[in-house]
Amino acid sequence: MASATSIGKHMRREAPAGTPAPAGTLAPAGGSVQAPAAGQSAAPRVLDVQHIEKVYGSRNNITRALADVSFSVRKGEFVGIMGSSGSGKSTLLNCISTIDSVTSGTVLVNGVNVTAFRPSRLTRFRREQLGFIFQDSNLLDTLTARENIALPLTISRVPARETLARVEDTAQRLGITEVLDKYPYQMSGGQQQRVAAARAMVTNPALIMADEPTGALDSKNARLLLECLEAMNASYQATVLMVTHDAFAASYTHRVLFLRDGRVFTELNRGAAPRQEFFNRIMEVVAVMGGEGSDAL
Ligand SMILES: Nc1ncnc2c1ncn2[C@@H]1O[C@H](COP(=O)(O)OP(=O)(O)O)[C@@H](O)[C@H]1O
Ligand SMILES: [Mg+2]
Repeated sequence: MASATSIGKHMRREAPAGTPAPAGTLAPAGGSVQAPAAGQSAAPRVLDVQHIEKVYGSRNNITRALADVSFSVRKGEFVGIMGSSGSGKSTLLNCISTIDSVTSGTVLVNGVNVTAFRPSRLTRFRREQLGFIFQDSNLLDTLTARENIALPLTISRVPARETLARVEDTAQRLGITEVLDKYPYQMSGGQQQRVAAARAMVTNPALIMADEPTGALDSKNARLLLECLEAMNASYQATVLMVTHDAFAASYTHRVLFLRDGRVFTELNRGAAPRQEFFNRIMEVVAVMGGEGSDAL
C-alpha cells in the first residue's frame, strides 16, 4: 500500500544509523493515571458476553437474575461491575467463569464459546484461563503463603524452579515477599487478600475475576489491594473483572458497568480522568440509580 511505503521511507529518513529504537513503544507514556491507552481499542477481545440470560427456579417461582446482558472486555482492561444487592453481579461472574450455566446466550473467552464446554473441559478451562479472588481469601491453612501462591502452578505441573521464580516475581510486584514463609493465621486479613491476589495472578490467566475482593477489608488494606490489582493490570496487562458495590474500589478501574435488575443500566468510561474525578462520576450514577438500590451502593 502506498501509505505504508511512504511511512517506511519517512521512518528511514528520520532514524540515523545507530539510533536505538524509541523507548516506550509498548506502553503509552503517562503519569500515575491508569487510564486506558488511546490504542486500547485495538487490543484483542478477551471476553465477549452475548445476550446472556439466567433464570432461576421453575414455572411458578422464577427469578430472572440476568436479562439480555452483553458487553466485551479487551486485553489489559480493568473493568468494574457495580449494582445493588440482588442486581445479578455474582450471577454474571459465575456465568462467565462457568461455575453457573447460562439459560441462554453465549460467553466467549479469547474467542472460544465456553458455554458449550463439557464438564470435563470446564475444570481445565477454569484452571488455565481464569484467576479468582473472593471476599474471603480462601487460602489453605496448612500451606505457607509461598505454597498457596504456587498451588495453581503445582497443579498444572509447572517445573519447580520455574514455579519458585514466578511466585517470587509475583510476590515482589505485590509487595508481599516478607510474608511468603508465613501461614495464613500469621498474616493480617489484608496480607491474606494480597496473597490470594498473587495466587490468582501467578498463572498469568486470560481473565481475573474478583467478587467483592475488598468487601472484608478496612480502608487501608482495601487501598493496598486495589493498588496491587492496578499494578498487576499495568505491568502484566492482566485483564481484571471486579464486582464491587463500593464506589471507591470501582474508581480504580478503567470502566464500570452498572447492573440493575439483571440488565446493564449504564456504563462509565474513565478515559484519562484522574481517580478522584472518576470516583465523583461513579457517585453521580449511584445517586441517579438510587431508590431501592441505594442500600448496597
Ligand atoms: N442459586 C440461586 N437460586 C435462586 N435464585 C438465585 C440464586 N442465586 C442468585 N439468585 C437470585 O438472583 C438474583 C441475583 O443474585 P446475585 O447475582 O447474587 O446478586 P448480587 O451479587 O448482585 O447481589 C437475586 O434475586 C438472587 O436472589
Ligand atoms: Mg454478590
